[in-house]
Formats: sequence, structure tokens, C-alpha cells
Amino acid sequence: MGRQRASANCLRPIRGFSESRELIPWAYAHGQVLSPSGLKHNCFKTKRSDDVRPQVGHTEHCKKHALTYSAHRLKLTEENEKMAKAWGGRFQQETDPRVESFTESISFDSRLFEVDVRGSIAHATMLASVGLISEAERDQICQTLKTIRDEIAAGNFPFQAALEDIHMHIESALIERIGDVGRKLHTGRSRNDQVSTDLKLYVRDAIDELDALLLDVQRAFVGRCEQDAGVVLPGYTHMQRAQPVQAAHYWLAYCEKIQRDRDRLADCRKRVNVCPLGSAALAGTSLPIDREMTAQLLGFDSVAGNSLDVSSDRDYLTEFAFCTSLIATHLSTWCEEWIIWFTTEFGFIKLPDAYTTGSSIMPQKRNPDVLELIRGKTARVMAAVPQLLLLTKSLPMAYNRDLQEDKLAMFAAFDTIKACLELTPAIVAGAELNREQIASRLEDGFLDATALMEYLIKKGVPMRTGHGTVGKLVAKCEAANCRLKDLSLADLQEACELIEEDVYGVLGTENAMKALQSYGSGGEQPVADRVRAWQAAMG
Ligand code: ARG
Repeated sequence: MGRQRASANCLRPIRGFSESRELIPWAYAHGQVLSPSGLKHNCFKTKRSDDVRPQVGHTEHCKKHALTYSAHRLKLTEENEKMAKAWGGRFQQETDPRVESFTESISFDSRLFEVDVRGSIAHATMLASVGLISEAERDQICQTLKTIRDEIAAGNFPFQAALEDIHMHIESALIERIGDVGRKLHTGRSRNDQVSTDLKLYVRDAIDELDALLLDVQRAFVGRCEQDAGVVLPGYTHMQRAQPVQAAHYWLAYCEKIQRDRDRLADCRKRVNVCPLGSAALAGTSLPIDREMTAQLLGFDSVAGNSLDVSSDRDYLTEFAFCTSLIATHLSTWCEEWIIWFTTEFGFIKLPDAYTTGSSIMPQKRNPDVLELIRGKTARVMAAVPQLLLLTKSLPMAYNRDLQEDKLAMFAAFDTIKACLELTPAIVAGAELNREQIASRLEDGFLDATALMEYLIKKGVPMRTGHGTVGKLVAKCEAANCRLKDLSLADLQEACELIEEDVYGVLGTENAMKALQSYGSGGEQPVADRVRAWQAAMG
């Protein structure tokens, strides 16, 4: 069993260009194929694909499986081309059978198939334009790549760990279908610049997708502003009642945060949009490739200037993960706030039924599970940042296989933030403020104390003195179990003789909110101005 499993992993390619007369990426030593019936044909020990000779036991073996020598040889060559690794010409020992599944990335990078084909089509187009392949070869390559892409998209393309990653799968399929012409595609590039190109194309699309989703969230918050016009909410610091603001001020606060998220993504996109393709393994190539052309064909803004840097650079992934993490932070704080607002103790908000769940044991329960899970899942997004930093922090230049792990972090961050963002707008738009409940306790917590202090400042009282005066008045109210607006003018004047009848125009939560007038504040007019600006920005 052990022996058999070991031999199933013994496809040993010999690196093509130097050792084969053909322009092929690999040839094979130890032949090992699976027959259609699943039996192993281990009777060829070869050094080169063009030198397949039967070894001891071949005749018996082929008789057993009813294969002629030439049929077996053909099968061997075909299957090897399908199965063989792109490296390995210099290896003497068989690979530990566990290594194949340990090193494969096809289980998580198959989703790069579309960008991989996009990159390869651009590469082939460039190869033809500089004369490294003919136009007919280019057309054959591009056509076949499109067919392979469509088959993968339709789920009609088998993946196997033996072919390591999506890049090898596509290239092997190409070679299997068009032979030597397919063997030319990898001219002037390596998997190292190919994988980085693929990742950049993928992340660029991901950024655009996230930007659209973030815009939807902003629209949902802006959309609430009109329906909640006039609703006043307590603003908090330290989770203690502080000053009153328009409800719309809360909604627009999230819009601002999300706008920064969008700006950050747009900025990250600039560094993503630099083309690595053509840097080859680490040093570039002696072939006359045209990197400008591939960059242009793929919509990159510029061409990366240092092949060593390209081979090792994953800054753009870490930066992208950080961008998603800040989005996650914003979503998580929003969820936390609304989970608190949804408690009986607060009772500020009703969440739509579609986004809450019941309890299997407590019939009265309505739980904010979706908000809790967004808050919870954001941990997975944030984990990508330390994962990528730790992954890259000790890597000398240039490419190291460690980098294969980069995709796991990036995909987890992207998938999770995307799923969260997809649900967010419906929850934001579908929730309702419990106006009565909010209003019934709006006068609690001295939300007008700062307005009173600023009233004193306007009357000429130094700020620190006014602060002390209002502090004493608040203490007086607490002792008497009343509000500031319940105090008589005589009581107020006892604290500060500059107070006049007009003080009642700033006392009370509603008045205190209306008194706010600075740009960007939570008062009626400034918020109305910002709502208009946001509505215009949303189009
Ligand atoms: N699957 C590999 C990755 O994602 C592709 C690059 C392989 N390059 C290499 N030199 N083995 O990183």
C-alpha cells in the first residue's frame, strides 16, 4: 500500500528548455499513469518524453492490462502530460505521498480561473505581437483558453491535486488539447509573475465589487434620513448620555466612515493596478517581451519596475486586507450599537423580522442574530491582516512558496466582508426607530447641560466657570429629582446672575439639539445641509 501510494506521486518532469529539443515546459522521467480502469502502469522508467522505453516487466504488465506497447506508450505520454508536475527533472527520489495534498492549492485557487485565462490571453497576444509565437498560434491558444474557461465556469472541468494549482491545470489542459502550441504559452513568464498578476486582477475586481456594495450601504443610510427627519437621539460618550443629535446625524456618521473605506480602497487600487506580468521567475527574461502591451491589455496603469520586487511583493494583499478590516470595524460597531439599541433596556429600534430569529426554548425571544454574526464574522476579516503580515515578514527575496498561503487570507477577508455588506443595506433600510420609546426618555441624562454651559459662555461667562456653574445645577437637579428646565429662573439666577428668561430657549433636549449650529454638528440645520449634500452625492 505504502509503496503503491508512493509511486502514485512519482511523476518527475525534466525541465524543458535546456534538456529537451522541443520548446516544452517539461518532459518526464519515472512514468506513472493510471489506466482507465484505475490500475497503475509502472512499467516505464524513462528519462525523456521522447525516449519512452519499456522496462523489465513491461510485457507482462501490458499483457495483463491488454495494452500494446505503443498504446501504452501513447497513454503514458498523454497521461503524463496531464498529470506531471512542471518541475522535478532533477529529482532522484519519489515525493512523500502526503506532499501532494500538502502542497496543492487548487482546492482554494481554482476561483482564479477567469483572471488566469484573462492574463494568459493578454500574454499570448503580446507573444504574437513580438513574434515569439505566430498569429495562428495565438488564435489557437486564445480560443482554447476560452473553451477551458467556459468549461471550468460550467463545472465541467475536473481538478486534481497532482496538478497543484489553477495555473498548471489550465496550462496542462491547453497542452493536452493543442500540444506544442500550448507548450509555448508560458514563454517569457513564470508562475511567480503569473500568480501575482492573477491576484492583482482578482483584487482589482474585488475592490470594484466592494465599492459598489459600500455605495449600497451608504444609500441605505442616506435613505433613512428623510423618514427619520425630526427624530432626536441621545448622543453618547463612554456609553453615557452626552448631547442630543438628529437621528440623521447618526446615519450620516456611518456614511462618512464608509466614504473613507471607499477612498481607502480606491487608493489601494492604485498600487494593485501595477502590472507584474513579464517579471518571470524573479529576474525577468532574455526574450524580447513587451510588458507595456500586456499591462495595457489587462487595464493596468503601469508596469512594475523591478522583477525581484514583483516576485516577493504581497503588500497589495495586506493593504487590501487592511481596507476590508476597517470596513469590518465599521460594520461591527454599527452592529454592536444596534444590538444595544434592540435590547429591552434601550428599546430604540425594531429590526426587520427577516433579519432576526427566535429562540427554541424562550417563546418571547427575538434575537439580533444577523447583526451578531456580522459582528462575529468581522473577526475573520481582521484576522487576514496579521496573517499576511506574519506570512511575509520573514521572507527573503524573491518568491517563496509560503506565499501560496496568501490567497487563503485574502479570500477569507473578501468573502466574509462581501457577505456582510450584502446583507447590511436591507437591515439598515428595514429597521424602524421606536420614536415613542426614544422620546419618552429623551429628557433623562441632562442632554442639555452643555447647551446651558454654552448659553453662559455667550453671556460672557468664562468656559471653565460656566462648566462649574452647570455642574452645580445638575447636582441640584439630581438631589431634587428634576430636570434643568424644571428649575425656576430664581434658582438659575442664584447660580449665575447673568441667566435670563431666554435660558428656557436652550433648556430641554429638543432645544439643546436645535442650538447646535457649527458645521458638521448634530443640530437641525447643519444636519439638513449634510443630508442634502449626501443625497446629491448619492445621485
Ligand atoms: N500555487 C503557487 C502559489 O500560489 C503558484 C506559484 C508557484 N511558483 C513556484 N515557484 N512554485 O504561490
